[in-house]
Amino acid sequence: MVVRELAPGVSSVGAIDWERRLFDSLIPLPDGTSYNSYLVRGSEKTALIDTVDPLMEFELVKNLVEAKTERVDYLVVNHAEQDHSGTVPMIAELFPAAKVVCSEKCKEILPALLDIDPERIIAVKDGDTMDLGGKTLEFIMAPWVHWPETMLTYLKEDRILFSCDLFGSHYAMSELFSDGAAIRETASKRYFAEIMMPFRGSIRTYLDRISAMGPEVIAPSHGPCLKPAAAIIDAYRGWTSDEVKNEVVILYVSMHGSTEKMVHHLAGALMAKGIGVRVFPLTSSDIGLIATSLVDAATVVIGTPTVLFGPHPLAANIAFIANALKPKTKFLSVVGSYGWGGKTLDQLTGMLTHVKAEVIEPVMVRGAPGAKEFQAIERLAANIAEKHASIGIR
Ligand code: FEO
Repeated sequence: MVVRELAPGVSSVGAIDWERRLFDSLIPLPDGTSYNSYLVRGSEKTALIDTVDPLMEFELVKNLVEAKTERVDYLVVNHAEQDHSGTVPMIAELFPAAKVVCSEKCKEILPALLDIDPERIIAVKDGDTMDLGGKTLEFIMAPWVHWPETMLTYLKEDRILFSCDLFGSHYAMSELFSDGAAIRETASKRYFAEIMMPFRGSIRTYLDRISAMGPEVIAPSHGPCLKPAAAIIDAYRGWTSDEVKNEVVILYVSMHGSTEKMVHHLAGALMAKGIGVRVFPLTSSDIGLIATSLVDAATVVIGTPTVLFGPHPLAANIAFIANALKPKTKFLSVVGSYGWGGKTLDQLTGMLTHVKAEVIEPVMVRGAPGAKEFQAIERLAANIAEKHASIGIR
């Protein structure tokens, strides 16, 4: 990567990770990612805002050399997670006079994660400012925008918001800036779904304040810088709202074909009623795409056979993930089959307690579905359509 200029005295010095294909040992990264780090030079002081994943620490050091960085006075840590903070110890060693600047909560967490002398950490509060000499940083506490210690940093003169994970995307691209149009409904929405969706209630409370600050550029810690800033903020308003779309997401696994037949019948019946349907076979689906589809679908249906006494492990796994992501899904149902009995329904619905959805009567079939069972599936489709109409979506 090369050093690029966001504004006079403000440079991007982070790393593009074109090759990475898995994050957190869980999330597929079809488009790679980047770990963004920004150098802000005032007439008096220099600040480095966030660092990079230690996997790419050499890139950051190389870029700091290329940018002829003679001093770093402040190492601003917006977020303690190691993909942004992991190279702080190395930078602190290279610039022994540098102070680490972070939130009070981050000051508690950081020394537990990294080898950092607590004496070098300056904790800032909401609204505190730091004058670098013609470049003023304002710190905005944003707890539970991913972690409880998270803050945002606003460069007032240049109207650049360094938003850390917020508004980011796992998207490697050579250009520094994007208007966001090409990735908003794909990489940006996927990133929101995977990382931010569990915190949508909290994120919603920051959006008006961020808009009122009038940022011209959003400089996140992953993916391109977004300009204009308003478009991604507006997209977040929609994703974090309680509004859902007339869509059903069907997540299923089948062993001998019974559940698959039911799922296909249900998808057809819903489509005939004008409802949007997304079907994901759990043996081969990208969980990032599943998460994206959960951002605004009104209904989720899980399809599963009964394995021994409960749901198929792949169905249990996606129920666990969906429960952790806390989508705003309004309705939930289950279809599937069993041989002799079991507690599939109770176990699945018991795993989805964080999804505040009304359960629509499931359809569980003994063995293979026949005419009577397909009628039950059609009734389920009709019930879903009625429920959607009852909340005003068609
Ligand atoms: Fe990109 Fe929460 O770290």
